[in-house]
Amino acid sequence: MYKIVKAKELTTNIYLMEVEAKRVAHACEPGQFVIVRMDEDGERIPLTICDYDREKGTVTIVFQAIGAGTLKMTKLQEGDAFHDFVGPLGCPSEFVHEDLEELKKKNILFVAGGVGTAPVYPQVKWLHEHGIAADVIVGSKTKDLLILEEEMKAVAGNLYVTTDDGSYGRSGMVTQTIKDLVAEGKKYDVCVAIGPMIMMKFVCLLTKELEIPTIVSLNPIMVDGTGMCGACRVTVGGQVKFACVDGPEFDGHLVDFNEAMTRQQIYKTAEGRAFLKEQEGDTHHGGCGNCN
Ligand code: NAD
Ligand code: FES
Repeated sequence: MYKIVKAKELTTNIYLMEVEAKRVAHACEPGQFVIVRMDEDGERIPLTICDYDREKGTVTIVFQAIGAGTLKMTKLQEGDAFHDFVGPLGCPSEFVHEDLEELKKKNILFVAGGVGTAPVYPQVKWLHEHGIAADVIVGSKTKDLLILEEEMKAVAGNLYVTTDDGSYGRSGMVTQTIKDLVAEGKKYDVCVAIGPMIMMKFVCLLTKELEIPTIVSLNPIMVDGTGMCGACRVTVGGQVKFACVDGPEFDGHLVDFNEAMTRQQIYKTAEGRAFLKEQEGDTHHGGCGNCN
């Protein structure tokens, strides 16, 4: 069992939990995720890691109550425990393995949208701890929905907050702030965008125009998280990929966002999955690659 040592509602419908999970805390890197289950027969819920403390042996997750599983999770309190806390899953962010001196020469821009601010935080924090100050844009629908502002401010080089309704910080969507910063003379070697799929699509359309290489973190529906079930199938550069094992980070300029968004909707029903199985044939499921 994995004990919850801290549980709080960050803002309406968005929750933070710090969980005792020593093995995950010791092994995880920015960019990875976990799959949790509340009980033996419970739904598997994939969640990006927001923070980790190797000394305390804890991992922090942030989630939005959007379905029956996550709604049930909101009822858990300090002292309660998860039945499973599986991870770290997926590949760490590429920069973790890059030559630090080369990385220090780069101007990096992070674009975080809504709940996507949570997985952006450990990446910016890791860079900060390694002497690299990245620019960060955080976009939120309204001031009330903004999360982790103080935490992000402490680790970002420059933090630009923007709200869709102009109730706080800059006004407009994250893409407007990217345009403004570039117009003000900012130059970026790489952009990392994490948030709703529609945001990542439009960020990529813009950064392609601006010729800024862009990495996105995809979070399609996931079931097993081990590349076997095919739930998280996406097309990147014309090739079939499974976000849980090949990602979750990909070259955003190569991701087929329209297909990914449509597939997400279709995959939700048994009828939809049967349709996809027919349409996608051998590549519908993932698999180990050894069983033909
Ligand atoms: P949201 O809808 O509030 O959007 C956040 C910001 O994204 C907006 O403020 C805006 O600046 C930007 N945005 C939205 N649509 C845009 C568009 N068309 N063009 C340009 N910018 C746009 O975000 P939310 O409600 O927090 O998002 C929830 C979604 O995010 C869920 O579907 C969840 O699955 C997903 N999510 C993704 C990740 C990930 O790893 N990719 C992590 C957490 C949550
Ligand atoms: Fe990725 Fe099953 S969740 S293949």
